[in-house]
Amino acid sequence: MNSLSVEHLIGIRDLTKDDLDLIFKTADSFKQVINRPIKKVPSLRDITIANLFFENSTRTKLSFELAEKRLSADIINFSASGSSVKKGETLVDTVNNILSMKVDLVVMRHPSPGAASFLSKNVDAKVINAGDGTHEHPTQALLDAYSIREKLGSLKGKKIVIVGDILHSRVALSNIYCLQKLGAEVMVCGPKTLIPKNIKELNVKVSNNLKEALEWCDVANMLRIQLERQDVKYFPSLREYSMTFGLNKEILDSLSKKIVVMHPGPINRGIEITSDVADSDQSIILQQVENGVAIRMAVIYLLAAQIER
Ligand code: CP
Repeated sequence: MNSLSVEHLIGIRDLTKDDLDLIFKTADSFKQVINRPIKKVPSLRDITIANLFFENSTRTKLSFELAEKRLSADIINFSASGSSVKKGETLVDTVNNILSMKVDLVVMRHPSPGAASFLSKNVDAKVINAGDGTHEHPTQALLDAYSIREKLGSLKGKKIVIVGDILHSRVALSNIYCLQKLGAEVMVCGPKTLIPKNIKELNVKVSNNLKEALEWCDVANMLRIQLERQDVKYFPSLREYSMTFGLNKEILDSLSKKIVVMHPGPINRGIEITSDVADSDQSIILQQVENGVAIRMAVIYLLAAQIER
């Protein structure tokens, strides 16, 4: 198979195992490209991409932009702050105005779950979801799974625990879909108030005990507490959260095996993870960021290949 089964990348839920294998194989080639002295290929010289960020981002925004530049696409960047969105313009009007500048592909981050899907049905361009509220963050899950594959050889049979604010996390949902499609076992761990009540419908294990979860796993993906999405208090204080669910060197060193530590960023050092763990040789946090560029090049390249030119 050398083309994706989907026309847009809205969520990992829509992808097949063959899609994931194709994205990883394509990312392998692009990873070689970005490690060469000349880190660029001319593949998308005729393609224009709009990066629309209606919500804050550092890694995802920069990573998409770099991936697009490495593929030689023309790009335009839009941030909601300082735009006419503040004057009441609708999402479709905003995007259609941008598309009238002959844009082929839109990368969008938006605070509303479903915004990327809505857009894909209402505009004449490819859409890549760069995170839609608490729903999905597909390229984050792809780069996470790719980084585990790179570190451990394969995902099949591996045990991955996702720790923290599962309730508000698009990274958790996309990771669960992605890891399971690749044959991994998934556990979620966190305070009861931050674990969705129906999570077991996704065939994941659940633990409220960090030490127990870490003893079970090969890989721990530590998530940020998303205070910006929390309308009520889900735990007494950040200090208490950190004492119960924060990963520190003492816990890491007490485990019976050496696990791999991940974090999608941005990190709240000293809350979900201490600095000595984040910067330790068990952490692959910066490899995740590096792999994000190759993964996003692969996704953009494969979707652009479907555009008639
Ligand atoms: N991991 C992630 O999505 O980070 P940003 O919010 O900085 O893009």
